[in-house]
Amino acid sequence: MVRGVIFDLDGVIVTTDDCHYHAWKRMADEEHIEFDRTINERLRGVSRMDSLAILLERAKRTYTPDEKEALAARKNAYYVDLITALTPSDILPGVMDVLQMLRKKDIKLAIGSSSRNTPLILKRIGLADAFDAVADGNQITHSKPDPEVFLLASTKLALPPETCLVVEDADAGVEAALAGGMKALGVGSAAVNPTATYCAPNLALANWNAILNA
Ligand code: BG6
Ligand code: MG
Repeated sequence: MVRGVIFDLDGVIVTTDDCHYHAWKRMADEEHIEFDRTINERLRGVSRMDSLAILLERAKRTYTPDEKEALAARKNAYYVDLITALTPSDILPGVMDVLQMLRKKDIKLAIGSSSRNTPLILKRIGLADAFDAVADGNQITHSKPDPEVFLLASTKLALPPETCLVVEDADAGVEAALAGGMKALGVGSAAVNPTATYCAPNLALANWNAILNA
């Protein structure tokens, strides 16, 4: 039986995955580094510095550690500019109904996100108090596909990992959930992930009865 659900944030709860793409794209264009949506798929769930390392695979020169810090900071400034405009209307379809349905069943709710901007985003979309626990990029050292962020979330919920379901739009996140001994529901870009325990195009279309009672 599932007793806790741990939600990834970007691309599961809110549309910020597109903001990440536009911020990286702006920085890459300025640096004349090739970057497109296909490459962007590899950044889903991956930390800021690990994402930069993937983007720099196509750079025409090498960057010093200080330059890399500056590039990551510049991308984050562009990103924060975009997410400052977020409102509750940017919450993805089905999220509010599913949170309410899970609450009624006494299932614990958590966020497990690699993003260091998690507190700001939750505040902007009005969900700062909607979860029993938040584990995010400010509290971990290993980014997805490492299970650290999800294990931290299950610890904060005081639930054994095997009683937790992770909802993810990133292949790296599905891998992290399974590595942590949890079940994984792949949605969005991970809706066709063959390793996910369950798949659905979005939260609203998942078969929650089957998932919760398995
Ligand atoms: C994840 C996103 O949620 O957070 C990644 O899927 C992003 O694309 C990562 O790189 C880190 O985000 P931030 O906000 O700390 O730069
Ligand atoms: Mg995501």
